[in-house]
Amino acid sequence: MLKKEHNDLLTQTGPETPFGRMFRCYWIPALLAEELPANDCPPVRVKLLSERLIAFRDTDGRYGLMDEFCAHRGISLWFGRNEECGLRCPYHGWKYDVTGQCVDMPNEPEHSAFAKKVKLKSYPLVERGGVLWTYMGPPEQQPPLPEYEFATVPAAQTYTSKRFQECNWLQAMEGGIDSSHVSFLHRGDINTDPLFKGARGNQYNLGDLRPVFEVVESAGGLFIGARRNAEDGNYYWRITQWVMPSYTIIPPRGTHSVHGHFWIPIDDENCWAWSFDYHPTRVLTEAELTAMRAGKGIHAKVDSQYRPIANKDNDYLMDRAAQKAGKTYSGIEGFAMQDASLQESMGPVVDRSKETLVSTDSGIIMARQKLLRAIKAFTEDGVVPPGVSLEHQRVRSAAVVLPPDQPFKDAARDALIAHPGVAPASV
Ligand code: FES
Ligand SMILES: [Fe+2]
Repeated sequence: MLKKEHNDLLTQTGPETPFGRMFRCYWIPALLAEELPANDCPPVRVKLLSERLIAFRDTDGRYGLMDEFCAHRGISLWFGRNEECGLRCPYHGWKYDVTGQCVDMPNEPEHSAFAKKVKLKSYPLVERGGVLWTYMGPPEQQPPLPEYEFATVPAAQTYTSKRFQECNWLQAMEGGIDSSHVSFLHRGDINTDPLFKGARGNQYNLGDLRPVFEVVESAGGLFIGARRNAEDGNYYWRITQWVMPSYTIIPPRGTHSVHGHFWIPIDDENCWAWSFDYHPTRVLTEAELTAMRAGKGIHAKVDSQYRPIANKDNDYLMDRAAQKAGKTYSGIEGFAMQDASLQESMGPVVDRSKETLVSTDSGIIMARQKLLRAIKAFTEDGVVPPGVSLEHQRVRSAAVVLPPDQPFKDAARDALIAHPGVAPASV
């Protein structure tokens, strides 16, 4: 349960809010590289942290992300002409380069120098791991480029998708660190989805519905350990990583790829659910890529605007017969939309003062506390929040079977660090 004041603090990320300012300390995913596929291709509208922006790729291949609206009289530059190293407003021809600088003002006297004085707000936009990342904070505090493992392995080893989610980012992110729902909501898919099936760990997941949670602080966020019974008195541990503000890595299964999410606020009532799948030591197979593109695993089938095909307007294609037969637990198909449908059903911003939390919610409780502490330290003393440091980003999830007397944080210490070229700890 959370007081209204704290709920507001954690769910509001506009430019003038405390968390909005802290969220702007991080590089965040803004677009898939495929959305700007060629030089001088059409510009793309981007809304992030409640700011309306326009992204484009110029004639020389440079990326720009700037205020969506022309400084002259507020036209959306989505209508602009992307030509000769700049985006030109179609109303009176003002032209901007990738830094937002106005470089041409053709409706002004020929020798006017006024264009030099006009600059739109702009942010860096940089490609890494098939994702275009942006940093929206003060330029003098810009950290080095992010080094999350999914974005730094060779291109053939990683795949990322995104989908529009119609609720506040925090309730989506909380689903990513809530390991307990997997045994219920996703139970129909664990043994059948091509990106999950066949792992020994699946049986422990399905066989023990009452995991014991042990949550331990990490430098950048939390290790969320969920313990289930395995054979001979041993424990099957699934250790999820949460790195501030919203990076989550799901523990792996067998030899499958490792997956996880980034949850990025669009505004306070919508977010992007970014979903990645990568393998630290091998390329993804054609069969895996085909499944990911088809919306299997944690990915979803989406339309050209990245809105899921199953969405709230069509009741997520609810299949009551499949629900009754136990084919799916909730009647919704696929991990992604099973999660999204329920998280959206909470309303755009859930009122956390009305919750009834239990022991399996300890990861969620500690994540909120850690965020609130970080916002306070950042706001009052300018303390750089956890997760900005590259070291905090070079981490992994793990799935391991351990004897009952071994604490997971010691026994799996090394498995929780991303060592390039080393296979993940997985059962
Ligand atoms: S509104 Fe853009 S040039 Fe006039
Ligand atoms: Fe889920």
